[in-house]
Amino acid sequence: MAIREIIVLPDKQLRLVSKPIESVTAEVRKLADDMFETMYDAPGIGLAAIQVAVPLRLITMDLAKKEDETGAKPRVFINPEILSSSEELSVYEEGCLSIPEYYEEVERPAQVRFRFMDLDGKVHEEDADGLFATCIQHEIDHLNGVLFVDYLSKLKRDRVLKKFTKQAKRAGE
Ligand code: NI
Repeated sequence: MAIREIIVLPDKQLRLVSKPIESVTAEVRKLADDMFETMYDAPGIGLAAIQVAVPLRLITMDLAKKEDETGAKPRVFINPEILSSSEELSVYEEGCLSIPEYYEEVERPAQVRFRFMDLDGKVHEEDADGLFATCIQHEIDHLNGVLFVDYLSKLKRDRVLKKFTKQAKRAGE
């Protein structure tokens, strides 16, 4: 296993739409292993492959430190797809390893049903609520080039983009 570099705002790769994984190869397994190591090291509770600059539809997640519920163990979701969302909404303070040390409240559907493939190539459907629902929606967004700051007001979004653009420039000087 190896820790990979997490790309951060304003890296344009974060806006890519990731490609479906056709079969679980040794390379895909290695990617998942590396993503777990990277995610635990960060530390974070969810990671999408594009955050380590791999544009494939793969997510790792472990909510064990946060909540005792369905998502509370190491989970891999390949080609995840939301099938239905509740009308009921819930608000969580979200953060993102690609937008370090920035947290804001985001409102999303409180429950979702989704489909995914596991590392054995089996397809499952599962219901998520609570933090698990928020986290799976946040990570699936990454696969579509969407970031949680996209749900904030333009003012807040512009402010955070400016801050990270400045930081990147400073780091590059
Ligand atoms: Ni994120």
